[in-house]
Amino acid sequence: MVVGVLGAGTMGAGIAQVAAQNGSEVVLVDLNQEMLTKAENNLDKVLARLVEKGSISEDEKINIQGRITYSTDVHDFKSSKIVIEAIVEKLEVKHNVFANLETIVSQECILASNTSSLSIASIGSVLKNSSRVIGIHFFNPAPLMPLVEIIPAVQTSQETLDFSKELISSWKKVGVICKDTPGFIVNRVARPYYGEALKIYEEGLADFATIDWAMTTIGGFRMGPFTLMDYIGNDVNYAVTESVFASFYYDPRFKPSFTQKRHMEAGFYGRKSGRGYYNYAEGTVLPQANEDKVLGQKIVNRILAMLINEAIDAVFLNVATKEDVDLAMTNGVNYPKGLLKWADEIGLNNVLMQLEELFHEYGEDRYRPNPLLRRMVKEGKHFFN
Ligand SMILES: NC(=O)c1ccc[n+]([C@@H]2O[C@H](COP(=O)([O-])OP(=O)(O)OC[C@H]3O[C@@H](n4cnc5c(N)ncnc54)[C@H](O)[C@@H]3O)[C@@H](O)[C@H]2O)c1
Repeated sequence: MVVGVLGAGTMGAGIAQVAAQNGSEVVLVDLNQEMLTKAENNLDKVLARLVEKGSISEDEKINIQGRITYSTDVHDFKSSKIVIEAIVEKLEVKHNVFANLETIVSQECILASNTSSLSIASIGSVLKNSSRVIGIHFFNPAPLMPLVEIIPAVQTSQETLDFSKELISSWKKVGVICKDTPGFIVNRVARPYYGEALKIYEEGLADFATIDWAMTTIGGFRMGPFTLMDYIGNDVNYAVTESVFASFYYDPRFKPSFTQKRHMEAGFYGRKSGRGYYNYAEGTVLPQANEDKVLGQKIVNRILAMLINEAIDAVFLNVATKEDVDLAMTNGVNYPKGLLKWADEIGLNNVLMQLEELFHEYGEDRYRPNPLLRRMVKEGKHFFN
């Protein structure tokens, strides 16, 4: 079976590697020959390192390399069973590309998009046979991150969904199914990790280092929110927040932060620009956290309650099952525990109490507890046994 991948940038090159490592024949197409050469050279380096570590043999390396054909011509997708598009995040460009792809591929070929933020229904609207469109959203770096969000649009057929699920599991990835809604699962549920941390900072309750210390040392998260935003890039993270906020018709839960906007405007993108919330210049001493346990616990409780409320909303609105919401957060962004499992452990009544306290103190809609949470507390229910 031949898998087509369109776009040989960060994501496309990674997806091609995943497919080839798992035995699929791959045609990787990019308009730009330089990107193809770069992808090929990078893969050679990555595979050489895997041979050095003993993870794969020299023969396997040669086989993997041999499974990928690099091309600048989309007509080479002719015999593909599926094409996964990973080009620029612009709806108009994706529309043109999908309409053109349909004139090249077979009747049965599935057309998937790796988009992070665009609607799959809209991408598929340009197709004559839109039942073949689907979202297949990998996380960066694709070869290392286990999660893949699979997003059927309203037009997607059951066969398209079944094939995609099977393909992703044959590539040994954790596939979760989610509704075609803004941010899918991860980019929606994770918003408060950044947004609430920024709000706590803006109120002067704690500085970046203290919030990061609380979330890692007390909360058990792998990276604090400010370190993580610096790692992702404030330009990228701010753009996602703005897009989710607009897509949810300006629901105050997703309101972006001026602090992040100003950092972005100043070019303080984070690690890649040498400065973000922290200064990464050589020899700079990172600021010390205020390791006050009471303050730290307060910070963790507040951010965690907001994250759990968002995870519950995804279940309440049937964006995904409770199992898939938890799998998404542990496999897509390395959360130490699934948020719903965590909610059970803390006690749903305690989560509700925390949100009600915030709601009463601030009188802001962003703190409104989800109706499903209220209902479950009333009925004494848990998410899992
Ligand atoms: N970078 C991430 O962390 C990430 C994570 C998940 C999903 N995504 C999504 O994946 C997609 C690609 O993102 P990326 O970060 O890999 O981008 P990128 O800029 O690294 O790569 C895009 C590639 O597409 C090529 N391209 C552009 N227009 C083309 C066309 N019409 N035909 C063929 N090739 C074309 C470019 O030459 C470039 O090589 C976007 O939709 C993005 O939202 C990105």
